[in-house]
Amino acid sequence: MNLPMIEMEQERLRDHVAAELTRARSRTELLTTAIDDGDLVRQHSPIMSPLVWDLAHVGNQEELWLVRDVGGREPLRRDIDELYDAFQHPRKERPALPLLGPDEARGYVATVRDQALDVLAGSALTGRRLVAGGFAFGMIVQHEQQHDETMLATHQLRVGDPALHAPAPPPAPPDAAQLPAEVVIPAGPFTMGTSTEPWALDNERPAHTVHVPAFAIDTVPVTNGRFAEFVDAGGYHQPHWWTGEGWRHRCDAGLRAPLFWHRDADSSWWRTRFGVVEPLPPAEPVCHVSYHEAAAFARWAGRRLPNEAEWEKAARFDPSSGRSRRYPWGDEDPGPQHANLGQRHLQPAPAGAYPAGASPLGVHQLIGDVWEWTSSDFAGYPGFAAYPYREYSEVFFGGDYKVLRGGSFGTDASACRGTFRNWDHPIRRQIFAGFRCARNVAPSDVAPSDVEPTDVSPRDAVKAEQV
Ligand code: AVJ
Ligand code: FE
Repeated sequence: MNLPMIEMEQERLRDHVAAELTRARSRTELLTTAIDDGDLVRQHSPIMSPLVWDLAHVGNQEELWLVRDVGGREPLRRDIDELYDAFQHPRKERPALPLLGPDEARGYVATVRDQALDVLAGSALTGRRLVAGGFAFGMIVQHEQQHDETMLATHQLRVGDPALHAPAPPPAPPDAAQLPAEVVIPAGPFTMGTSTEPWALDNERPAHTVHVPAFAIDTVPVTNGRFAEFVDAGGYHQPHWWTGEGWRHRCDAGLRAPLFWHRDADSSWWRTRFGVVEPLPPAEPVCHVSYHEAAAFARWAGRRLPNEAEWEKAARFDPSSGRSRRYPWGDEDPGPQHANLGQRHLQPAPAGAYPAGASPLGVHQLIGDVWEWTSSDFAGYPGFAAYPYREYSEVFFGGDYKVLRGGSFGTDASACRGTFRNWDHPIRRQIFAGFRCARNVAPSDVAPSDVEPTDVSPRDAVKAEQV
């Protein structure tokens, strides 16, 4: 490429980065102005930060990485670094800290943003690894969007008049009722993770080959209607469906149904969603269940949760090329036709509502709607290297965390892709998490038409991902 071409590419990338920063900030502003300042500083749950902490923490991370590190500029507020370091103070302590007040926090994030945009305008997004391809800026965009999802979960926990509103998600087309219950994913190698996605975070790297035995996976996530059958069949009172740890937690926490479900006198189910009580929609993916509840349901249904490699193969593997796609539908960025992402709708869409987002093997709604619990513990891939800081992923490896995949209606597209990994404690259920089930299939159970020879050697598989 000649010099003017490279400069044009750089200009386009800088415009894209600026637009993504601005888009994240609009969402942050909505989430922090929809309620009054009293609700901004209040702690709505001991497991969540006051929203005003999230707000200034977003600005502080942006100052650390974009203003000080990338920009090489002097600190704006070194004195507050400690207050907004997530490792210094657990969430339950945060309301007692001398935090910036609502107006101070708003002023701080605006000043940081002005400086970050100025740094961006003067940065060649090449060379140094931290800025090549706009990585540090992409990391900060994703960080703000991740906190926007966390703030949305805080809104869901808040008690009070509804503050957020959005149109309903699309209905499922009539033929969704004819979808097969499950899809068989043939045995064979596939490329997991990525070495080429420019804004992929360290835990998604590097691309590596995984041999996955044949298995079957649900075509759509488990719905409220199906989960209610488990509840109504007494599943929360029968220890044999639960792991030992799961049952202990079920008893200690007094779990009887997913979070935000209520049953009225005539025994029909209702749920509370962002301050509105409404009948439980049976066709919608179940949400606000812990890993333990998901695993108990799966055992009751004679099935199991998929592991992370199975989930990613179902989502990315294209049997006709042997290649792993960026998303189930292909390599294009998510559009509103593909998936329920980005807080456009404030609830999951009914099962089958996104046929255009299905994977080549016919698995639906892997991206968006609800995060999906997997049976995998959070760990680094072979060849993992922490980058640019150990506290994003590495310090959580080997802890009490299960991996979740696919993103929810509350997740922004910038923080969601076929390789993206989320994690949380197996008891958590304030996140927008559901699940789908899987089961082993014996090679002899796989119909011949399901076993497309892929002809992909492990090395080729890694190369294909890099296209
Ligand atoms: C990847 C969602 C588990 O919210 O704890 C935000 C993302 N890391 N700030 C979290 C994150 C640092 C993280 N999760
Ligand atoms: Fe953070």
